[in-house]
Amino acid sequence: MNAKKSSLVVVWGNAKGGVGKSTLALHFALQCMYEKLSVACFDIDGDQGTLFRSIENRKQYCQQQNLSLPVPEIVRFCPSTYSTVDMAKQALDACLEMHQHVDLLVIDTQGSDTLLGRYVHQKARVLVSPITESPLDLDLFVNISQIQDQSHLTLPFGSYANMVWEQRVAKASQSKEHLEWVVVRNRVNHQISRTQVHIEKILKSLSPRIGFHLGPSIGDRCIFRELFSYGLTVMDKDGLTTLAHITARQEIRSLTQYILSLLKKVNTHSDIRRTT
Ligand SMILES: Nc1ncnc2c1ncn2[C@@H]1O[C@H](COP(=O)(O)OP(=O)(O)OP(=O)(O)O)[C@@H](O)[C@H]1O
Ligand SMILES: [Mg+2]
Repeated sequence: MNAKKSSLVVVWGNAKGGVGKSTLALHFALQCMYEKLSVACFDIDGDQGTLFRSIENRKQYCQQQNLSLPVPEIVRFCPSTYSTVDMAKQALDACLEMHQHVDLLVIDTQGSDTLLGRYVHQKARVLVSPITESPLDLDLFVNISQIQDQSHLTLPFGSYANMVWEQRVAKASQSKEHLEWVVVRNRVNHQISRTQVHIEKILKSLSPRIGFHLGPSIGDRCIFRELFSYGLTVMDKDGLTTLAHITARQEIRSLTQYILSLLKKVNTHSDIRRTT
């Protein structure tokens, strides 16, 4: 193994809760494993523990059904167990260091702005932020309260966009590495609404201004909710029955390819796999 090569870090973040960070982080991690990449997952939202629980459910389901599906390594990191943020940062660094043998570290974060969350954003080579079609989600990217008075090209940045900007600056000054940011529209309704069109238009115009890529979107499909208790994903063959399921799988593949090709671009090596 090339010991000098460190794992590539993909952080799933958004200061808004319930946008699909944990669900898509799990699907991304599993799709990468199906593509023969080695992956370790970190649930930094360990007090809630959604990603951790999904992977535990997966282990149990595989055992019960005698299946040999890929299961990523999972670290449950509970910020509440540390009395200071500095202690939590040190512990997290140690955990990440212990997992440098894998190709990819997939980090799921809390749906709120915390000091530890900010630190984790700086660790990202690629940050992926799911966003739903709600104007409330968009408000964290650009302050839409003034939309009537101003063109969205001149509206002030929202709180999350400002936070990411600060972490980008901090990362660049410390490591000279650029943080690539991908925004993903999640839970997109198949029936096109005016709000949907409006939000897409704003996101497209914000992309060069705020400095994010607008990645392939993911539709709103109940299959994502149904699979949680089994820890299964739409990529697992078991239970693949409906057209919605197959479409969801294709969408996850496209999103994964998009993120992996960005990682390849930013990585000095052409292949993100480790040479053993
Ligand atoms: N594309 C989708 N279609 C349908 N349901 C989805 C989709 N993505 C996520 N969900 C559902 O939305 C809910 C919230 O998803 P998830 O827990 O992944 O969000 P989160 O951003 O991690 O939330 P939190 O900030 O609370 O951790 C879950 O019930 C999940 O199953
Ligand atoms: Mg979550």
